[in-house]
Amino acid sequence: MRTVRTVEDLRSVLAGPRGEPGAHSVGLVPTMGFLHAGHVSLLDRARAECETVVMSLFVNPAQFAPGEDLDAYPRDEERDTERAQGAGVDILFAPPREVVYPPGFATSIEVAGLTEILCGHPDSRGREHFRGVTTVVGKLLNMVGPDRVYFGQKDAQQALVIERMVADLDFRVEVLVCPTVREPDGLAMSSRNAYLDPAERERALALSRALRAADRVVTHGERSASAVLQAARAVLDEAGVAPDYVELRSARDLVPVDRVNGSTLLVIAAQIGQARLIDNTILGDSSR
Ligand code: PAJ
Repeated sequence: MRTVRTVEDLRSVLAGPRGEPGAHSVGLVPTMGFLHAGHVSLLDRARAECETVVMSLFVNPAQFAPGEDLDAYPRDEERDTERAQGAGVDILFAPPREVVYPPGFATSIEVAGLTEILCGHPDSRGREHFRGVTTVVGKLLNMVGPDRVYFGQKDAQQALVIERMVADLDFRVEVLVCPTVREPDGLAMSSRNAYLDPAERERALALSRALRAADRVVTHGERSASAVLQAARAVLDEAGVAPDYVELRSARDLVPVDRVNGSTLLVIAAQIGQARLIDNTILGDSSR
């Protein structure tokens, strides 16, 4: 594995394999590091599907609002390097801030609509969060020029926003969205779980428990959104978790739904201690 920090080095390292005869595919897995098994599942998928695997490691300041956890965000490049190498990454792209945002940087990418709801709502993280995500992912796609780029369903809204951007701006890349990886007790893996003390971690389990409770009532035939949401809210209430939001949305375009069908997403966000956590599931999806 090679670690590179500038766009010039990245491109010259990529030029080698790209110059080989025959089709050569490049897969990109964008991350903010502090790797866990969720990240590794994306790396494994990329490793299985692409000849060259690039992982980016960049804690993107543009997607943190003032007062959010940019400074506190967990970082451990040494351990991430070992994990990336263990997962078979060929190129670790870990640029310093000024490579991504040089002096005078003035451009951003914004996807309208999808970014103004849920985590993009002004009462939540705000649309600026997604503007930061799409701007950096757009840059990474231009820097690496991958054939495939991998994201996690754990951040369902982020994945949809990026799919929209890629379609709208004709990025020549296939977007693949991989299933959420969970701890054995159900907690969705997240770098931010590192903030939780044991009591908070216990309370955080209410998110995945609420998803399962809702899924159970759907499996038993319930289709009314208010009844399904009630089942999820009851679990959160009982654990003393006041969510930012608990909503049922179309898994395709995040439009609110009042009946559950085969592609209805239940999304939850909640602040637990210092950690803002999100989780989601597609309800009544028998293919899972
Ligand atoms: P980060 O939170 O590091 O996540 C990197 C990728 O891992 C994202 O696609 C995310 O959805 C995926 N991921 C996180 N937890 C997961 C889990 N439990 N199971 C499966 N996949 C999981 O998301 C970001 O970074 C940033 O916004 C980024 C896209 C890198 C842009 O800065």
